Amino acid sequence: MTTRTTADPCWYKDAVIYETHVKAFFDGNGDGIGDFAGLTEKLDYLETLGVNCLWLLPFFPSPLRDDGYDIADYCGVHPSYGTLHDFQLFLEEAHRRDIAVLVELVVNHTSDQHPWFQRARRAPRGSPERDFYVWSDTDQKYAGTRIIFTDTERSNWTWDPVAGAFYWHRFFSHQPDLNFDNPRVVEEIEAAMGFWLDLGVDGFRLDAIPYLVERDGTSCENLPETHAVVRRLRASLDRHAPGCVLLAEANQWPEDVRPYFGEGDECHMAFHFPVMPRIFMALRMESAEPIIDIMKRTPAIPPSCQWALFLRNHDELTLEMVSEEERAYMNLAYARDPQARVNVGIRRRLAPLVENGLRRIELLNGLLFSLPGTPVVYYGDEIGMGDDVRRSDRDGVRTPMQWTGDASAGFSRQPPENLYSPPVSDPVYGAAAVNVEAQLRDRSSLLHWMRNMIRLRKQFRVFGRGSIEFLPVTNAKILAFVRRWEGDTILCVANLSRHAQPAAIDLAAFAGLTPVEMLGYTPFPAIGGLPYMLALGGYGFYWFELRRDP
Ligand code: BGC
Repeated sequence: MTTRTTADPCWYKDAVIYETHVKAFFDGNGDGIGDFAGLTEKLDYLETLGVNCLWLLPFFPSPLRDDGYDIADYCGVHPSYGTLHDFQLFLEEAHRRDIAVLVELVVNHTSDQHPWFQRARRAPRGSPERDFYVWSDTDQKYAGTRIIFTDTERSNWTWDPVAGAFYWHRFFSHQPDLNFDNPRVVEEIEAAMGFWLDLGVDGFRLDAIPYLVERDGTSCENLPETHAVVRRLRASLDRHAPGCVLLAEANQWPEDVRPYFGEGDECHMAFHFPVMPRIFMALRMESAEPIIDIMKRTPAIPPSCQWALFLRNHDELTLEMVSEEERAYMNLAYARDPQARVNVGIRRRLAPLVENGLRRIELLNGLLFSLPGTPVVYYGDEIGMGDDVRRSDRDGVRTPMQWTGDASAGFSRQPPENLYSPPVSDPVYGAAAVNVEAQLRDRSSLLHWMRNMIRLRKQFRVFGRGSIEFLPVTNAKILAFVRRWEGDTILCVANLSRHAQPAAIDLAAFAGLTPVEMLGYTPFPAIGGLPYMLALGGYGFYWFELRRDP
């Protein structure tokens, strides 16, 4: 077993997380598919980028009909990505660099190829083996439950001719939901957790956690029985490996996500799903209001807990947690091309969403790094990679990492046609235009800027731990807030407009202090009794340390 040296039990609050798929990062053995050997080779890159926690998408044995979220064995490595030994070597090397590793715990469902399902469909009705999954004689049960994959699924029930019954699934029909009313299922999941914890992983992303338990007459989401299961998993984690974390994927409104922190006895972290689309809305509307609005609607969380913030991830930019009106606006603003839409969301990467506008990419990352929570960067977004909306499902945002300008993007020794997926190949976003090698040489690249911002953020724990207060500004296009923690106070000001804007900010509470701009360490005029005047260029933003003695 390998462990990191970090002793702080709240380490995740100061982390910068990097999300990647092993298959997409680097091909170490030259077969066209990324693997653990390749990921290990690229740890130096990640260390220099400054990220200190990796979240790995599912790498377990799987028929790969949902990119590995259809698990066929919880305790192994898919042979395309290497062996368990390769995983262990990778983990040791990550820990040697003080990089934590989170793996996926896909608790809600398995693949229909999982031996549990194959056994269940053949087992007698009512037996514990059959009861690993959720069965029914009719497809009308739990009728009030929404469908998540609206593009492919018509029902949450599928008929199984072998079992002679319908089985329940919230996602693809090849992903039957586990039955958490069966204590043996919970025991098996605890055993899978124990397996990875014994190897030394630092925690789990709990996939699709709101849907564990079903009850008639409900939406089958966020039920008290589901929370009881999460508490049990947390207790098991704490017993087994104190200091390891659970990160909840609960795509819900803030008030429904809040219970996944419990009283500090459920998840340590949860993704802040509702703030994400509102950051994009604020940018397009050139108004701070959507961000302020949702942050004000965000309940306080227990002291040991933390939000995880993200701009993009491996899924579509989900529009489930917005109103009908907001959804229509987002589609109009960011997905006029119907091909860019999938399910209830937009399948685009960060750079294409903002038409490759460097200042917009920087502004969005500036918000990601300064709003309360732990930032999660999606692989490739640190160099402004593009996507391909013509690929099936969400594959267009899961293309090979672009390391160099060659035809296979420096990802593999294989030619592009032999890769698990061809790299993006258009003139703006293709590897010839966007790659790590070129951006490392170019001191004014996005990659250097990201490295700089991550380094700066990590120097100030207030970003990960501090409170937030929004400040009154005369200009609605300007977002201004203060982060405070222990003796540190940081003022963040962002211009959401494409044009230069003036801002008069009410800083009366900080009279006598001097704002010191944090990138250049330049003192600005001291704060007096009058509104503080600033001018910001289009999409400009500042971070100021408010100091008594600059
Ligand atoms: C993952 C998706 C996956 C789904 C079903 C999620 O929420 O992020 O990529 O398709 O769970 O497992």
